[in-house]
Amino acid sequence: MNEENPQSNAPTPAPPPVPQVAAKPAPSNPANAVMGPDKIDRRTFISWTGIAWVSFAAATGGALSIVLRFLFPNVLFEPPTSFKAGFPADYEVGIVDERWKEKFGVWMIKTAEGIYALSTTCTHLGCTPNWLSNENKFKCPCHGSGFYKTGINFEGPAPRPLERYRISLAEDGQILIDKSKKFQQEKGEWNNPESFLSCV
Ligand code: FES
Repeated sequence: MNEENPQSNAPTPAPPPVPQVAAKPAPSNPANAVMGPDKIDRRTFISWTGIAWVSFAAATGGALSIVLRFLFPNVLFEPPTSFKAGFPADYEVGIVDERWKEKFGVWMIKTAEGIYALSTTCTHLGCTPNWLSNENKFKCPCHGSGFYKTGINFEGPAPRPLERYRISLAEDGQILIDKSKKFQQEKGEWNNPESFLSCV
């Protein structure tokens, strides 16, 4: 018995009960949350709206491209088939004039009798020969065909002469070359008066 503390043998009062706190549910990811019917409807609506807009944009873009293609069709811009080549007096007899070679693919050759316009396209496979004034001939760099100043082939694989174009005088006195009309020597077409411009 504890004499100093007579109440020490008194029963110890039970501690007050600890109030039970309900565990909070772990925060859930809204994305994983089970959605109610109204949310599903909203999301579905947004998805369908997006699809509709994409479809609309694709259809509009397609229609626009068709319209643009109609307005700006694929056109191959080529040099005109007819051009004025200056006056007969601009050319020297005996000289192969190359001023129109690059732009129109034509050599102009003036003789004592007149002028003719020779095509710069090799009759073998279409390369462009070079005029070699020292050798007085056209020489094709691709397979070696050679042509006289007249255009007649004499060496290499070219099967026929160079072609000539229609040549005439325009109303203003200039030479008019029409590349839409060709004359082939092997067909006897160089006898056609349109293949040669007589100098007057
Ligand atoms: Fe000219 Fe072949 S293309 S010789």
